[in-house]
Amino acid sequence: MTRHICLTLCLSCLSILLTVLAVWDHLPDHRILHIRTSDTDREPTATKVTRELSVSPSLLDVTNFSIKSHSVFRSYRRVRSVTECSATPEKRFDCARDRALSRAECQSRGCCYVPLPADLSGGPPWCFYPPSYPGYTMGPFVPTSKGRAANLTRPKPSFLPRDITALRLEVAEETSSRLHITLKDPSFPRYEVPLSPPPSEQSSGIKNPLYDIKFHSDPFGFVVRRKSNGRVLLDTTVAPLLFADQYLQMSTSLPSPLISGLGEHYTPITLDLNWTSVTLWNKDMAPHSDANLYGSHPFWLVQEGDGLAHGAFLFNSNAMEVVLQPMPALTIVSLGGILDLYVFLGPDPESVVRQYQEVIGYPMMPPYWALGFHLCRWGYRSTNETRSVVQRMHEANFPLDVQWNDLDYANKRRVFTFDPVQFGDLPEMVQEFHQKGMRYVLILDPGISSTAQPGSYWPYDEGLRRGVFIKNSTGHTLIGKVWPGPTAFPDFTNPEAVHWWEECIRDFHAKVPVDGLWIDMNEPASFVHGSVDGCPDTDLEKPPYVPDIIGSQLSFGTLCMSGQQNLSTHYNLHNLYGLTEAIATYSALLKVRGSRPFVLSRSSFPGLGRFSGHWTGDVRSDWEQLRYSVPAVLLFGLFGVPLVGADVCGFGGDTNEELCVRWTQLGAFYPFMRNHNDRPNAPQEPFVFSQEAQAAMRSALLLRYSLLPFLYTLFHRAHTSADTVARPLFLEFPTDDNSRTIDRQFLWGSSLLISPVLEQGSVELSAYVPPGMWYSLHDGQPCHSKGQYFTLSAPLDTINIHVRGGHILPQQEPALTTTAARSNPFSLTVALSNEGWASGELYWDDGDSLDTYERGDYSHILFTAGQSRLVSDPVVLNGALDGLILGNLRVFGVPSSPKAVLANGEIVTDFTYQSTTMSLTVASLSLPMTEEFTVQWIL
Ligand code: NOJ
Repeated sequence: MTRHICLTLCLSCLSILLTVLAVWDHLPDHRILHIRTSDTDREPTATKVTRELSVSPSLLDVTNFSIKSHSVFRSYRRVRSVTECSATPEKRFDCARDRALSRAECQSRGCCYVPLPADLSGGPPWCFYPPSYPGYTMGPFVPTSKGRAANLTRPKPSFLPRDITALRLEVAEETSSRLHITLKDPSFPRYEVPLSPPPSEQSSGIKNPLYDIKFHSDPFGFVVRRKSNGRVLLDTTVAPLLFADQYLQMSTSLPSPLISGLGEHYTPITLDLNWTSVTLWNKDMAPHSDANLYGSHPFWLVQEGDGLAHGAFLFNSNAMEVVLQPMPALTIVSLGGILDLYVFLGPDPESVVRQYQEVIGYPMMPPYWALGFHLCRWGYRSTNETRSVVQRMHEANFPLDVQWNDLDYANKRRVFTFDPVQFGDLPEMVQEFHQKGMRYVLILDPGISSTAQPGSYWPYDEGLRRGVFIKNSTGHTLIGKVWPGPTAFPDFTNPEAVHWWEECIRDFHAKVPVDGLWIDMNEPASFVHGSVDGCPDTDLEKPPYVPDIIGSQLSFGTLCMSGQQNLSTHYNLHNLYGLTEAIATYSALLKVRGSRPFVLSRSSFPGLGRFSGHWTGDVRSDWEQLRYSVPAVLLFGLFGVPLVGADVCGFGGDTNEELCVRWTQLGAFYPFMRNHNDRPNAPQEPFVFSQEAQAAMRSALLLRYSLLPFLYTLFHRAHTSADTVARPLFLEFPTDDNSRTIDRQFLWGSSLLISPVLEQGSVELSAYVPPGMWYSLHDGQPCHSKGQYFTLSAPLDTINIHVRGGHILPQQEPALTTTAARSNPFSLTVALSNEGWASGELYWDDGDSLDTYERGDYSHILFTAGQSRLVSDPVVLNGALDGLILGNLRVFGVPSSPKAVLANGEIVTDFTYQSTTMSLTVASLSLPMTEEFTVQWIL
């Protein structure tokens, strides 16, 4: 018998197989595991081990972190019966996640050991939990102010070092669609993410929850069902719950394989469940597959297959790994904190995203100019070079709102300084840009150079004096290495650091009046691992288990885990570094500039969208990265960070003309659009290409600018209702089978379908058009879809955009800056439904002041079309629309040529009708936006 035996065998075959394979007994599990290097044979040392996670600063005394008990795993010495070990491969839950185990070691854990053929290697585990594996036992529930609670105990510790045998379970039914389940150690104040959860409704006030939760008391587990159809959404009884000091694990079945989220990774919009694992550990890592990237988002959304969806969020900031298996199921392992799980019942996917954002916070409202085109490059070596780029953009008639400089500006790469020679007139340059109606953004790295002459670099001297930097385990400033050389890292969980950061920004802004800040390298990244002095040899640095991360060690390319911060160790706070920096930077800009802050952060964690946008890091200039930028952007929408984009034309390596044109066309529909390039590469500003390519790029940019009133309105919806901006098709068409995994196309809001070319040499594409009436945005060509693919022509100068019947888009004549465009006439594109109706809206304010909506300083106009007329209804008129007019109108889906067109009852002569596309264009209107108006087409 060969090892290529089908393994879904009857039990007797299975036992024969076991005998045959006995020869393999001595071999460890063949799957690729992250091997713990420490020996496994020693007895546990004394129990004086401080659990890693206390929020109390006094407990940060590193001497308490006694070492070494982790190397011993307790054994159960019980060989499982064949029946207990009969789980089909896809239903096996790995009992040897921490290290490779031989049969004897596996069985001594009380687990099943059933080898599999070699062609399944890297797949199902050989060593797995039997159904009866001992776990926690749950006591009776008692009521609490938030819901109910129960104690969990396990008679014997698990095989994990520093197992926690008594837990407290808290259950809160927070809203009718949100359930909150917490498991913590009642006897010890473990670290919890130091961000405030939202206020919850009183449990007693919840009417008709969409969920039902049942608990299994021995071994403990719970099952969450959708009440309406009984569907099991989560079932944690499928594998044991483990809760040890540096290892928390929970598994659940999934009701469908369509799972999205768990970023930040280089993935399609739905994840691969074929025994893949994703690690959440913020890392300075250029996007590529199987790597943990810059951010961590322990949130997932599951499309249940019939249009319904639910989501879950593990509110935990420790290093985490999520293993996905085809059952379908997942296992989450976190290296610390508590298990703090939210479940969102939807019932549709867009509601799930909203319910998630109710927990993490709704996104900020960006300034209007942030939606314009941004241009950057690492390698604009002087103010003159930067000026010349801006000049050439204007001469070539390309819109440009925001010019950026990378690190080139900083004297010796020290932030808060500027090079006196190459950038000596930086303040003047910024003023010039402002006079042109443009804005200016600078990079700001968190690393503060620690080697300047004392007295010559205020940020470091003052930071040191005020104790704002992360300390090492001996209480001295932890020194890493970034662009300026040795650097200290501000601890943004320290209020004093936040004040000091604000002063640094204030002083610098007084000289160089930047409009926004680009916070880079904030995972935080370091070019030495841990610190220039290495890291101590402790359990924090070398936990019993490390997920599969780039560099194999937690401190690889970042700080020592033992780094001391105000709220806890860097071990716990690492994934929060970028978020805490974004909060401090947002708050500083707000105070210093007094208007809406613009912050762009590379590192992210849930809640980032309240303070910052995000770009997807160092993408390579190639077609594959262009293609994967679409799901990357869409996923950040699900994570509550709608202001997101990839570096247009790619950052790493040389771009080429065709790629850069296609990337500019797609980038025109990223919510955040910036062309950014690395130093050694061929230039990629739009003006360096052929006239043909320039024309294509210009038209994409002008199209974006013409749509900014619509985009801004979508951001208003995101800010006030947590609606997504760039939206995957499945969010809008949840019951459409074809939409479930589409991530080469996407929507803006619910009405604009974007179908970019993502392949080299293509001049047409097969585009999916969801069911309904759609029109080409360019010429109104109708497309009635049953939910089918169409071959669309896409020559180099074209990106296919379709507007959905039933919707009205507010637009504005474009200009070279948003400052200029904001005074231009508006236009409306009315896409009639089959029945001849459409509606839309415009949100408008001054585009820059803080809290305009909250203060009521805005205008809001509703547009409705039907029965051959369009009417506007200005429901709120508080600002910024005075003097602005509706200049023209396009109506798609007009069945015949109108006999006449009337605007507010007056005859309009300037109109045309295209019978081939059934579209009506009315020009030369001059209807004040502040007044109600009616445009009629008489058929
Ligand atoms: C890394 C960033 O990802 C990149 O965008 C930037 O240009 C370099 N750091 C230099 O600052």
